[in-house]
Amino acid sequence: MNQDISALRKFVSPEIVFGAGSRKAVANFASNFGARHVFLVSDPGVEKAGWVAEIRELLITAGLSVTAFTGVSPNPKVEEVMVGAELYRSNECDVIVAIGGGSPMDCAKGIGIVSAHGRNILEFEGVDTITSPSPPMILIPTTAGTSADVSQFAIISDPDRRFKFSIISKAVVPDVALIDPEVTETMDGFLTACTGVDAMVHAIEAFVSTGSGPLTDTHALEAIRLINRHLEPLVANTSNPYLREQVMLASMQAGLAFSNAILGAVHAMSHSLGGYLDLPHGLCNALLLEHVVAFNFPFAEDRFRKVAEAMDIDTRGMSKMEIKRRLMNRIIELKRTVGLESRLAELGVSVSDIPYLSGFALQDPCILTNPRKSSLRDVQVVYEEAL
Ligand SMILES: [Fe+2]
Repeated sequence: MNQDISALRKFVSPEIVFGAGSRKAVANFASNFGARHVFLVSDPGVEKAGWVAEIRELLITAGLSVTAFTGVSPNPKVEEVMVGAELYRSNECDVIVAIGGGSPMDCAKGIGIVSAHGRNILEFEGVDTITSPSPPMILIPTTAGTSADVSQFAIISDPDRRFKFSIISKAVVPDVALIDPEVTETMDGFLTACTGVDAMVHAIEAFVSTGSGPLTDTHALEAIRLINRHLEPLVANTSNPYLREQVMLASMQAGLAFSNAILGAVHAMSHSLGGYLDLPHGLCNALLLEHVVAFNFPFAEDRFRKVAEAMDIDTRGMSKMEIKRRLMNRIIELKRTVGLESRLAELGVSVSDIPYLSGFALQDPCILTNPRKSSLRDVQVVYEEAL
């Protein structure tokens, strides 16, 4: 019997501990991997908030040595990965722990890859380029949005090409994700909004992706539902632990969905913006979202109807055009309520940047799973609409 299995989907996930206080299990997990010397990756903001000191203390109390690498910048650079990997090697570390947003976690993934192969991180751009397993890795996210802690993605900036490149492989899924809503309490309203909308984009793009399937759909729809209900009140009241937990749960579900279903044109275009102009990822996504939804809608109408329903829009009796209009309006309303109303031009993007940005976007692997095939001109028009 000749079965076509090309449409079947796999699902990869780390071991996840979700809930308040889960970060405190870090030493236990590190010890279970046989750790002696932990390499701890973070960034200056997270260090200033006190989380690095706490994790270091937990590890040291358990009898482990720690080398901290906390200089990771937003949009982590090739050079930072290489410096980190050299520190990892020279200190004879054996387990990697990262605490932070997407940047420290992606940098940690890069350090793991370089440590395992002894080659430059630039050589691993693309899909399934990794041949040796990384050291054991434990990730603790401090933002509810990027989901690098559960994903098969590592995004690294190459300043020489002004390009953010993607490494996509199940080898960059960490061994353990300790997803602890308590550590998001140091996020301000703006970061909460940017990362929360990024998670919403993950869920929507995963749901309409050509790589979607039953294993990712339920996570994507639940993430959309949770963010639609809880992000606006959370941004208005960032100290509410219940809301923080709900948005963190949504981010995790969106992460599981997009890690396995991959993404679409919003991410391809925002990776290009982030690499070319060093702009914040979540904000770029937010500014592009409704324009890409409008572009994609006719090619995934049934899927977008389910997205609209997950956003509490009663679509019964509505025409397709009406569903599209209501969905776009709800996305715009949500963005406005959380304060992400600006346009690309206000971030310093100009018309003359669009040809470069569009060329880079078409090289991004996320464009391949967009529900509508996109030409260079299509991408240019969407950038122009968001300008
Ligand atoms: Fe994202």
